Amino acid sequence: MNIQQNISLKNYNTFGINVTAKRFITVDSVYQLQQLLKVEKDIFLISGGSNMLLTKDIEKLVVHIDIKGISIDKEDDNFVYLTVNAGENWHEFVLFCVDNDYGGIENLSLIPGNVGTCPIQNIGAYGVEVKDTIIKVEAVEIESQKLVSFSNAECNFGYRNSIFKNEVKGNYVITAVSFKLTKNSHHLNTSYGAIETELAVKNIKKPSLKDISDAVIAIRKSKLPDPKEIGNSGSFFKNPVISEKLFLKLQKEYPNIPCYPVNSSLSTLLKINSSEKSETKVKIPAGWLIEKAGFKGKRFGNYGVHEKQALVLVNYGNATGKEIYQLAQKIQQTILNQFQIELEIEVNVIA
Ligand code: EPU
Repeated sequence: MNIQQNISLKNYNTFGINVTAKRFITVDSVYQLQQLLKVEKDIFLISGGSNMLLTKDIEKLVVHIDIKGISIDKEDDNFVYLTVNAGENWHEFVLFCVDNDYGGIENLSLIPGNVGTCPIQNIGAYGVEVKDTIIKVEAVEIESQKLVSFSNAECNFGYRNSIFKNEVKGNYVITAVSFKLTKNSHHLNTSYGAIETELAVKNIKKPSLKDISDAVIAIRKSKLPDPKEIGNSGSFFKNPVISEKLFLKLQKEYPNIPCYPVNSSLSTLLKINSSEKSETKVKIPAGWLIEKAGFKGKRFGNYGVHEKQALVLVNYGNATGKEIYQLAQKIQQTILNQFQIELEIEVNVIA
């Protein structure tokens, strides 16, 4: 086993934070992972590194999951079933599906990260969440090295949430994800305002999967910083869900306060069992709260709040994870004081 010493993780996390892994190994098969776990159980996993803020050097063995491969398990006239290994790049997988006219994840174009981590936080954008297309998640249990499988219901998906962030956190390494996608009669989700606008500008009335993917790519490029240019981890906070009572109170003070519907019907169409309960409270865009609190576009030397989307914290070059974490805490405190809302950090902070 090729364990390397003192490796910089700067190129392994999209925030571009320069911390060091004392020991580092890349794993490219389930077998290799199982062999490693027989002798090394105290590990730190890194895959696409797109949802973490590293604030210090990593003492544990850093295991970079790089297991590749996409396979079609079965298909019929209407659906295709695919298993995708954890190390595949998420966006490249989306493009593969769009090119083959497999529908269901086109709204999730250009999300950074790898396939293996998409179930952990149930990635979502523009009216779609990945849970609506996931059949099962395969993972190796660290303690026993057994390869096990979680059904959609067992994943306990919620908004930016799953069992992998809660009950079984730290116990498994996800090695593959299986999806069920449509081959025809696609359930297109174009209701998100910005997508409608993009399609209208191009005068597209009957959009293909590619039209939607292209629209999402254009919207994301216009609002969200490219991690290759400016380090970031997408939305740093979750959009808070608040009581209707608090919402009505805030609405009196801020008549234009935006709010969100939270449900999706794609999982019903694909008949994928989901254990998520329907949400009745009000979801507020955290970006709006942060902008109202005056942080949007604020730069503090090496780091700051993105100028086009206040939900995204950015590293302009050599910021430390600690600096960015302190800014996040300052934002949380300000939002609590001003709106009585507790902002929850969405990114995995390694402190
Ligand atoms: N808004 C502002 N100011 C801002 C940003 C947003 O006022 O600086 C308000 C506006 O009213 C805007 C609304 O927030 O209409 C929604 O903004 P946006 O469409 O950018 O979506 P979001 O709620 O801020 C969520 C996801 C994003 C995802 C978009 C699109 C979360 C935490 N974030 O952001 O996901 O791309 O919706 O569906 O749910 C990510 O998780 O990394 C991510 C980028």
